[in-house]
Amino acid sequence: MIKLSTRLESISSLVPINSNVIDIGCDHALLDIYLYQNKISNNIIASDINVNALNNAIDNIKKNKLDNIIETRLGNGLDTLKDSDGVDTIIISGIGAHTAVGILENNQHKLNKINTIIIQSNTKLELLRKEVTRLNYIIDNEIIIEDNKKTYTIIKFIKGKKRYTKKELYFGPILLKTNTKLFQEYIKKELAKLELYLKLLPKYNIIDRHKIKKEIRLYHNIID
Ligand SMILES: C[S@@+](CC[C@H](N)C(=O)[O-])C[C@H]1O[C@@H](n2cnc3c(N)ncnc32)[C@H](O)[C@@H]1O
Repeated sequence: MIKLSTRLESISSLVPINSNVIDIGCDHALLDIYLYQNKISNNIIASDINVNALNNAIDNIKKNKLDNIIETRLGNGLDTLKDSDGVDTIIISGIGAHTAVGILENNQHKLNKINTIIIQSNTKLELLRKEVTRLNYIIDNEIIIEDNKKTYTIIKFIKGKKRYTKKELYFGPILLKTNTKLFQEYIKKELAKLELYLKLLPKYNIIDRHKIKKEIRLYHNIID
């Protein structure tokens, strides 16, 4: 049985049981091997744009004797997904928000049958929430975890329509509700970064200073 990092294990915890998965940017495919071994999914496609990454996946899949189970595909984003695959769940992890959103937007017509999208990205979570919910998904779950002294947010989107406030898009509707100690610590660290950035911004840079000040106020609002 494969052992995963806290980050990857947390991602696996959001994958619906018996789902049909495509893991975009699978790299090592450890998550995919774990999903099968732990009976979370029997139908898994591990896909990557990079041939070396995909070879890494193929090696690990073979080592675990799952080459008849986990299919591998080489290509950009959802280009590798076919309608006949019957996939209902997309996982995108360890990829920047802009790229993740691009992957979904570039193949919007393939999202019809996708009930669940799980994304772990460390950049621009506001943009991620805004753009994925615009594609007719709602935020079903969010977790914030610490792994190897780094903080990660994982978001699970499911089909649906809902309007979110700026604050919810920024910090996450579920994370605001659960308001864990780690979430508060993370927010305080991010606020400290913003305050330092503001200090270093020249006074004549009025527009950027105004934007940062607004952001800082948003942060102050949610700190306990
Ligand atoms: C940092 S690794 C993350 C690997 C794994 N998903 C994880 O979370 O540990 C990012 C992977 O995404 C792949 N990738 C980046 N952009 C991609 C795209 N547009 N389509 C498919 N794979 C992509 C890279 O080749 C790389 O293997």
